[in-house]
Amino acid sequence: MKREVLPPAFGPVMCVVGARPNFIKMAPILRAFAAQSTPIPALLVHTGQHYDADMSDRLFADLRLPHPDINLEVGSGTHAVQTAEVMRRFEPLLDQHQPCCVLVVGDVNSTLACSLVAVKKGIPVVHVEAGLRSFDRAMPEEINRVLTDQIADVLYTTERMAHDNLAREGVELSRVRFVGNVMIDSLLASREIARPAKQTVEQAGFSPAVLDDPRGFGVVTLHRPSNVDQVETLDPLLAVLGEVAERLPLVFAMHPRTRANIARFGLDPLLEHGRMLVLPPQGYLEMLGLMSGATLVLTDSGGVQEETTALGVPCLTMRENTERHITVEHGTNTLVGRDRSAILSAVDAILASGGKRGRVPELWDGRTSERIAADLVQWLGRRQAEVKV
Ligand code: UD1
Repeated sequence: MKREVLPPAFGPVMCVVGARPNFIKMAPILRAFAAQSTPIPALLVHTGQHYDADMSDRLFADLRLPHPDINLEVGSGTHAVQTAEVMRRFEPLLDQHQPCCVLVVGDVNSTLACSLVAVKKGIPVVHVEAGLRSFDRAMPEEINRVLTDQIADVLYTTERMAHDNLAREGVELSRVRFVGNVMIDSLLASREIARPAKQTVEQAGFSPAVLDDPRGFGVVTLHRPSNVDQVETLDPLLAVLGEVAERLPLVFAMHPRTRANIARFGLDPLLEHGRMLVLPPQGYLEMLGLMSGATLVLTDSGGVQEETTALGVPCLTMRENTERHITVEHGTNTLVGRDRSAILSAVDAILASGGKRGRVPELWDGRTSERIAADLVQWLGRRQAEVKV
């Protein structure tokens, strides 16, 4: 492919965030850029994919992420509309700011949209959290992951298996670096200041005494379209969560997608359970406090699977597959799908024996962003030399 223009070697690194998990990944990267002996210049672009105060502003504050330099305010829409809007609004920024590269994280629509725009303008793409695969092409994130990795120039991975996935897809391994997990950088940087679970529950208007159960409490997050967009899947899942709540109290931090679908399908009565505390989307410090104090976590989120592994808290993932295989192999994660008896027996096993202990995966040590910054400086230096020749 012939590239349109060669970027100047040292324009800023244009860092893209769009949705909640992106903010958690980007915060330590920007701090590491600023901490270099010659700070790496960065421009922070928020696509506006997530825009609610609960889904965005609060996370920025908790994570000490600087205010975005640019907000594209794309908001919600179908996949095509959202992706296209990000692309349309992102393109002029590249002409205006001439970045040396575009750095994207994770697998949301904003990740792919900005990568596509950049690569077609001849601007290198750096992908943090490359190579994860669920092998489920029905997942929108899997499409975003595969395509972003195909067009990225530098790929930073969280686990060694990602290299096999990338090699199988024909990605040149000289572009791939195993650096660890930036999500865990954020976790370790904030663990000490996480908000205690009881405070979070009280703040939401519930009695904190509910959490004094001898079995402790569970934490629930649920938002994957495959779980929450059809009444046939959401209804039985909420019913089984009601059965889990008979065993131990549950704190359910509810994503707006799930909230809207519960209302649309008339499923609110399934939440009327004295031991199921339904909270709005929580800030980062609140989620960290809830997860750290939990006996178990039930989720379909990718990030939560990793965070529970780092915290050593048993996690039951309500999906048939995961792209974070290492959390199952080495960590505390168990795939339970949507099957009622599998979920209940896994919960019972944890209540009886404490569940999987797991161990923290290699390089999930809180220093991944430092490694990325150091590597990027070298790569940019080599690129600058190539451009001069
Ligand atoms: C997106 C990501 C998903 C990630 C999740 C984290 C894609 C394809 N999906 O899913 O990988 O795990 O973020 O939360 O990029 N909404 C609000 N306020 C907001 C944002 C969304 O009310 O600030 C509601 C809207 O009704 C919207 C719906 O949530 O239509 C879904 O938002 P969207 O960004 O399309 O996808 P998520 O389900 O959040």
